Amino acid sequence: MTEVSMPTNIALIKYMGKKDALKNIPDNSSFSYTLDHLTTSVTLTPIDGDRDQWDSTEDKIRFIKHLDFLRQKFDKTVFYTITSKNNFPSGCGLASSASSFAALTECFDKANALQLSVDEKAALSRQGSGSSCRSFYKPFAVWSDDEVAAIELPYKKLLHHVIVVSSDKKDISSSKAHSLVKSSLLYADRKIRAEKRLTELLDSFRKQDWQKSFDIVWQEFQDMLALFETAETPFSYLKLSSYFVLDTLREYWKSHHDGPLVTMDAGPNVHLLFREDQENMAKLLTEAFRERFTVL
Ligand code: PMV
Repeated sequence: MTEVSMPTNIALIKYMGKKDALKNIPDNSSFSYTLDHLTTSVTLTPIDGDRDQWDSTEDKIRFIKHLDFLRQKFDKTVFYTITSKNNFPSGCGLASSASSFAALTECFDKANALQLSVDEKAALSRQGSGSSCRSFYKPFAVWSDDEVAAIELPYKKLLHHVIVVSSDKKDISSSKAHSLVKSSLLYADRKIRAEKRLTELLDSFRKQDWQKSFDIVWQEFQDMLALFETAETPFSYLKLSSYFVLDTLREYWKSHHDGPLVTMDAGPNVHLLFREDQENMAKLLTEAFRERFTVL
């Protein structure tokens, strides 16, 4: 049996919309922080037989398709019993595809002693789940077209929390969202806005202008939500409580002139990133949210 675990990541500049849906080549660059504390562990145990056996509750079809893709690519004939487990509570509405596809790719490499480079593993993993390619790099990753790399910034470590507003399974997968957003009139200039924000966000990180970073990260996830809401058939992942959490955070920033970076994914939960020197603030703020929600 071979076992590996890989972290998930949270995008500050979002990957939304694909140039090539088969290879998962994105329309715009994205930028993420790798969440070392939220991991998926995958095991592969070789079996006699001609099909893989599944031993967990993940999205089976996509996962086995990725394993088939890897097997064909490297001319391998072994089938496996697969297990996949997150170290964070399942069904809490957190995207686990980044960590699970990264872990599956890493595990296949290890089980077959392929000794692929990090860049090769990231490129293969990308074809299973686009955002998973960023999980191979830390603490920050930038992904453009078919290239992804780590980037050095003054913040070596950020403190991450997620306010879990709902753990319901989402109706619209992120794969579906990638294609639906293309029908929005706002999509035509989406790439221009995302690339401009990426340049400005990296600049604000380098200057350690936290307020500016907060503003850009906030505008960026709101841009993604606007694409959802202005698609030909509008859709949304937000719950009433998501608005409550966002409003509370906006008021917090207004009164303290400081606070966490705030972002959302294709889901109702709200992600917070604090600087290391904001540890006390992180404690107080998350304690307040814990009165109503699960906070990880
Ligand atoms: O990797 P996918 O196809 O699950 O897409 C993820 C898209 C977002 O999570 C919404 C944004 C991102 O960049 O991670």
